[in-house]
Amino acid sequence: MLESRPDNMERITTPELAKAYIDDQIAKIKAQVGEKKVLLALSGGVDSSVVAALLIKAIGQQLVCVHVNHGLLRKGEPEQVIKVFKDEMNANLVYVDATDRFLDLLANVTDPEQKRKIIGNEFIEVFAEEARKQDGIEFLAQGTIWPDILESEAGIKAHHNAGGLPDDMNFELVEPVRILFKDEVRIVGKELGLPDNMVFRQPFPGPGLGVRCPGAITRDRLEAVRESDAILREEFAKNGLEGKVWQYFTVVPDFKSTGVKNGKRTFDWPCIIRAINTTDVMEVTVEHLSDELIDHLVERIINEVPGINRVLIDYTPKPPATVEYE
Ligand code: XMP
Repeated sequence: MLESRPDNMERITTPELAKAYIDDQIAKIKAQVGEKKVLLALSGGVDSSVVAALLIKAIGQQLVCVHVNHGLLRKGEPEQVIKVFKDEMNANLVYVDATDRFLDLLANVTDPEQKRKIIGNEFIEVFAEEARKQDGIEFLAQGTIWPDILESEAGIKAHHNAGGLPDDMNFELVEPVRILFKDEVRIVGKELGLPDNMVFRQPFPGPGLGVRCPGAITRDRLEAVRESDAILREEFAKNGLEGKVWQYFTVVPDFKSTGVKNGKRTFDWPCIIRAINTTDVMEVTVEHLSDELIDHLVERIINEVPGINRVLIDYTPKPPATVEYE
């Protein structure tokens, strides 16, 4: 039932090819699903967003999208998911603000792997709870793409198939971008009318800003990560670096240093800026920023983000450093 990418499949590089793919998938989705209901965890990332847009076109209100806000999303993300899918595409969207649940569970947890586990397990828990509230769901849609299949076949990473849902939730899978490479998913997304900042967005880890708030997450330090990240993204967009630099973000580590502001002593966190380029994410080089941009970022972050009194730049390639801090 699940498709494999044909060896002779032409790479989707044009709107025409994307349109042909969309028409073909819509017919396949209709044939598979009929009048039944489909559930989708819509994170707002490229793959799940394209799957949502395809399914909305194919089956409209039979799709139930669940957007779980774990409190570790970037500034404006949940709002954008609601605007694009609920307001503009009229999707059947359930929005769950589970921020308190996640942050309460994560309080005082310092171990990075433990943090990831808590975030992953709680995500499944919240999603399963929402799924149980829905009547008559028989299908689960997923944004699996072809590299996921290749990597899991090669034993490189476990494919996140069926999201680790409990055994009693036995849904049939719908995977309409399964045979596509990432660049093709983006072209299909654009053809489906998704906004550029959704389709061409930089990679963002599942545990979200949680891995950029090293050690035990506190709400105030998490807010400093979110606000500084928003400033960085805004300035990169203004300076033509959006879409050119692979990934860029800020980290607020859990230590404080002495500073001075308006003649008074401060004791606040530093904010670290990291901007990198790569093709395969195994090896990464750093993007060297202009002096003007650095000066401007320092000024904005220091003045606009509560709790920050120093800005540092991470110019370390991978290896030896990984991209994320945890
Ligand atoms: P590292 O830190 O391993 O990151 O050098 C390589 C790339 O993977 C992303 N990343 C993740 N993505 N879940 C994800 O979906 C994760 O747990 C995760 N950890 C790292 C990271 O942002 C970078 O693009």
